[in-house]
Amino acid sequence: MKPIFFVLWVMFLFLTGLTWAKSVGPSACGECHAQEFQEWTSSLHAEAFRSAVFQKSWKEHGSKPDCLQCHTTGWKEGTASFAHSGVTCESCHGSMADNHPAAKMPIPVSSDMCRRCHASTHTEWKLSAHGQKNIRCFDCHNVHGTGLRLGGGENLCGSCHTEKQQGFAHATHHKNGLRCNTCHFPQSAEGPDAIMGTGAPGHNLAVGPHICARCHEETVHKSSRMSDLRARVSETQKHMAVAGVENVFDLNEKAKDLQWRLDRARSSAWLTGVLGLLAGLGAGWLGAWLAFRRRS
Ligand code: HEC
Ligand code: HEC
Ligand code: HEC
Ligand code: HEC
Ligand code: HEC
Ligand code: HEC
Ligand code: HEC
Ligand code: HEC
Repeated sequence: MKPIFFVLWVMFLFLTGLTWAKSVGPSACGECHAQEFQEWTSSLHAEAFRSAVFQKSWKEHGSKPDCLQCHTTGWKEGTASFAHSGVTCESCHGSMADNHPAAKMPIPVSSDMCRRCHASTHTEWKLSAHGQKNIRCFDCHNVHGTGLRLGGGENLCGSCHTEKQQGFAHATHHKNGLRCNTCHFPQSAEGPDAIMGTGAPGHNLAVGPHICARCHEETVHKSSRMSDLRARVSETQKHMAVAGVENVFDLNEKAKDLQWRLDRARSSAWLTGVLGLLAGLGAGWLGAWLAFRRRS
């Protein structure tokens, strides 16, 4: 190694050491930010180093120091030493500012901050319609606690996508109790040992046929039912095109309207029939009476 690199390396270690020497740890922030601290304590970020799942996997990977860069705070590169276990307040907000709260702490409102550790999820998201419109990670996720805003599911998705539960495929499944996430953010099949931040499912929003196969396996394999389903879908879509509607609810309304007209038409046809019958009977009686009178 050239001496200049060695000097730069030592300076780098010294500077990162200095930076993290100021790091105070999450419970110190918690003294004044009780609510954020409370929520954070129950999150997987707090458990990212301590958890049995990580510890087991880390051992299996020969306790590689590199793993710690995303599972701890204030990791010193190339070593197994770090300032705090887990992803603490300072991982996201930077280390404690001198004179805070007089001096402000940064609020990381860009999703770029999450990218440092959630690299592959961030890439998927960036390419998706959500990334393009900058619907940010924390628009959906509770960053301090765990879980999703608005309780997740239909409430969350529905807060922006009101029209979506009405398309044919969407409405049918919605009626059968499927949630948006069942198809759009499907739990990954790999299980919990997805390391290096590759475990979050579905942020590219694409729904591939393998997702349908999770429930419609028998139809995928015994293709007669699949083609039956396809036929029913295209049949319905044809009806929709003919009726000039875009969703099944409108189609239902149209069908109800037609049914009503048909019923009305039928009942007036019935009335004409009865009147015709009565008139026929009347004419018959009149004819018989005239014939009877002529004979007598
Ligand atoms: C995973 C990253 C992350 C961690 C860990 C984190 N925060 Fe935050 N924090 C954010 C983001 C993003 C925002 C802005 C969005 C929001 O308010 O939900 C924020 C907002 C805040 C705010 C401003 C709230 C407001 O409404 O003005 C405070 C105060 C705060 N965090 C304190 C903390 C404390 C204390 C901890 C540790 C117990 C902590 N944060 C841990 C990412 C994080
Ligand atoms: C001595 C009490 C105290 C401590 C310790 C403290 N804060 Fe604060 N913090 C405050 C006060 C007061 C505010 C401003 C009022 C508010 O918005 O709640 C604030 C505001 C913030 C904000 C909003 C942006 C700003 O600066 O106004 C963030 C983010 C934040 N603190 C993060 C942290 C983090 C992370 C830690 C630990 C490293 C920490 N705070 C430690 C008292 C404290
Ligand atoms: C310093 C690295 C790091 C940063 C920065 C970070 N995360 Fe994480 N995050 C992790 C690790 C590691 C885990 C897995 C912890 C575990 O499962 O033990 C995780 C887990 C999660 C989970 C699942 C945990 C749960 O409780 O549901 C969500 C959601 C998440 N992160 C979102 C975010 C968002 C959003 C941001 C940006 C605001 C962010 N993270 C920033 C490292 C990070
Ligand atoms: C449109 C809303 C939305 C946005 C934006 C979003 N996510 Fe998610 N995320 C979800 C949903 C829904 C799930 C699935 C949760 C479930 O199945 O319980 C999820 C799951 C995850 C998980 C796995 C959590 C677990 O418990 O398994 C991580 C980690 C995560 N997201 C990180 C991110 C990051 C990082 C970003 C930004 C780059 C982001 N998300 C943007 C909605 C969103
Ligand atoms: C904060 C608002 C917001 C929330 C919450 C939200 N979305 Fe979106 N979503 C958008 C926007 C904006 C677009 C882009 C639409 C456009 O360009 O017309 C979009 C696009 C989409 C697309 C279309 C993708 C494509 O490639 O065309 C899907 C699928 C989607 N969202 C699913 C979901 C699901 C599932 C949820 C719930 C987990 C959700 N969204 C929550 C705002 C949101
Ligand atoms: C049965 C699986 C399934 C369920 C459940 C589901 N979707 Fe979809 N969604 C799809 C498929 C398939 C597409 C077509 C786009 C594609 O190929 O990725 C789609 C497309 C979309 C689009 C883009 C629409 C467009 O016209 O471009 C949005 C937005 C969307 N879904 C939102 C939702 C919301 C919100 C929910 C919950 C109310 C939901 N989806 C539930 C499978 C589903
Ligand atoms: C670039 C950052 C990064 C590195 C490096 C990294 N991880 Fe992770 N790891 C994450 C994130 C982010 C998550 C959680 C979200 C997800 O799965 O996408 C996670 C999740 C995990 C989980 C699942 C935890 C649970 O509770 O389900 C294990 C186990 C794990 N990592 C082990 C490792 C091991 C072992 C290494 C080293 C070989 C490593 N990680 C390196 C970012 C990282
Ligand atoms: C979580 C399970 C699940 C997933 C995933 C799923 N479906 Fe379904 N699907 C159902 C249920 C339940 C029904 C209603 C029962 C029935 O009609 O057999 C249904 C019905 C259907 C129907 C018949 C609609 C009707 O009214 O006749 C079609 C077509 C269909 N699904 C296609 C798909 C496609 C395409 C996908 C993938 C984008 C998919 N499904 C994903 C569970 C699922």
